[in-house]
Amino acid sequence: MTQKVQITIDGKTVDLPVLEANEGLNVVDVRGLIGEGIFTYDPGFLSTASCDSSVTYIDGDAGILLYRGYPIEQLAANSSHLEVCYLLLNGELPTKSELDDFEKEIRSRMDVDEHFQVIFDGFTEDSHPMSMICAAVAGLASLYHDGLDIYDADHRREAALNLIAKIPTLAAMTYKKSLGEAFVKPDPSLNYAENFLNMCFGTKNKAPNVSPTLARAMDRIFILHADHEQNASTSTVRLAGSTEANPYAAMAAGIAALWGPSHGGANEAVLDMLNEIGDESRIEEYVAKAKDPDDSFRLMGFGHRVYKNFDPRATVMQESCHAVLDELGLKDPLLKVAKQLETIAREQDYFIQRRLYPNVDFYSGITFKAIGIPVKMFTVLFTLGRMPGWITHWNEMLSGGFKIGRPRQLYLGPSARDYTDINQR
Ligand code: CMC
Repeated sequence: MTQKVQITIDGKTVDLPVLEANEGLNVVDVRGLIGEGIFTYDPGFLSTASCDSSVTYIDGDAGILLYRGYPIEQLAANSSHLEVCYLLLNGELPTKSELDDFEKEIRSRMDVDEHFQVIFDGFTEDSHPMSMICAAVAGLASLYHDGLDIYDADHRREAALNLIAKIPTLAAMTYKKSLGEAFVKPDPSLNYAENFLNMCFGTKNKAPNVSPTLARAMDRIFILHADHEQNASTSTVRLAGSTEANPYAAMAAGIAALWGPSHGGANEAVLDMLNEIGDESRIEEYVAKAKDPDDSFRLMGFGHRVYKNFDPRATVMQESCHAVLDELGLKDPLLKVAKQLETIAREQDYFIQRRLYPNVDFYSGITFKAIGIPVKMFTVLFTLGRMPGWITHWNEMLSGGFKIGRPRQLYLGPSARDYTDINQR
């Protein structure tokens, strides 16, 4: 039965249709309200669906995350990042030959034009890698003048392949730049994660020597980050894309949004926090700060806008984290602090009542550290993983009817008043 919601405005009853979701909550279609001379108000989009989408489904209470219907746990256990990219972009898992062709297309696009590499000369070695990758991705638009027709599906596909293929190369270049070392060219004989690790840790003349365990852990991290429905950066990509901006500019906008510590920057913030805490004796002090309503400090890597039970990505990430630490034989003291924090958060009322659980960034930060990735690079790796999600949402929006994203406001400023001369103020 078609549901509707009735609201009364100044004595007039207005029917609002309810749109049915395949999974999860239905939504009230409020588009007709503007005709009644009233807006809805929802800062932070706590109750607002900004679009319809068929890409990713999250049930935050049950801890479920599905890409195109497939549970994240199954994809992390059985799939590869490139297969997940194909799934997100095309809606279905590839056959063997479709995957082979897709991988070939990615391999053939991994190189970055030599002229373009000088863009990194404008940065110093201590520049934040996120500022470099943001500029580099926006700059890619300058290489594809003839491929920027956003209404041409072939152009959109080409941009998607370019971005997925080149983002590891650009990410590794930011890393090499921060070390002051020469860039290492992509090696198409390696898989996606091996190639990335080789471009980071290899040198121009040294044969690749990448541990399969570390490469697998890295590939899983990319899978876990590949999409997360309408989060802040994906919504930013959609908003920027809705102005008809080119895909490279729209992705750069997403990268900027991801940078913040409440979003992708949290993995970096987790490590900064663990380093600041230092050892187990200081944990209580920091937990007390997190609980103090007068202190803005938060436990980084805890809590999520959508997951209010557990973050399924965190469960997979925890396994990968332990596999990496075992392989490397590391007994990182920060891991002890992390474990203790996790226990406290699971036991203390403050965290239980607010349903604050460790999120994916809590474990990814520790894993990156063990692999030898510097803290400032963490969010760049999130960027690399999230690229297929952003481009898929951008493409989904452009494939259907869309309008420029233009929110309205509740105006609380002064009413119209006359300008007064500076001598009379
Ligand atoms: N530590 C301590 N208290 C917290 C935390 C935290 N990490 N997160 C939320 N709270 C408290 C908050 O103070 C508030 O308490 P009260 O009701 O007494 O005012 C309550 O929990 C609800 O918080 P909120 O800010 O309304 O929740 P939100 O849904 O707007 O925020 C969040 C979600 C992820 C921004 C927030 O939990 C946070 O800042 N976490 C730390 C940063 C982090 O780990 N971010 C990564 C998210 S996962 C990666 C991704 O998908 O982007």
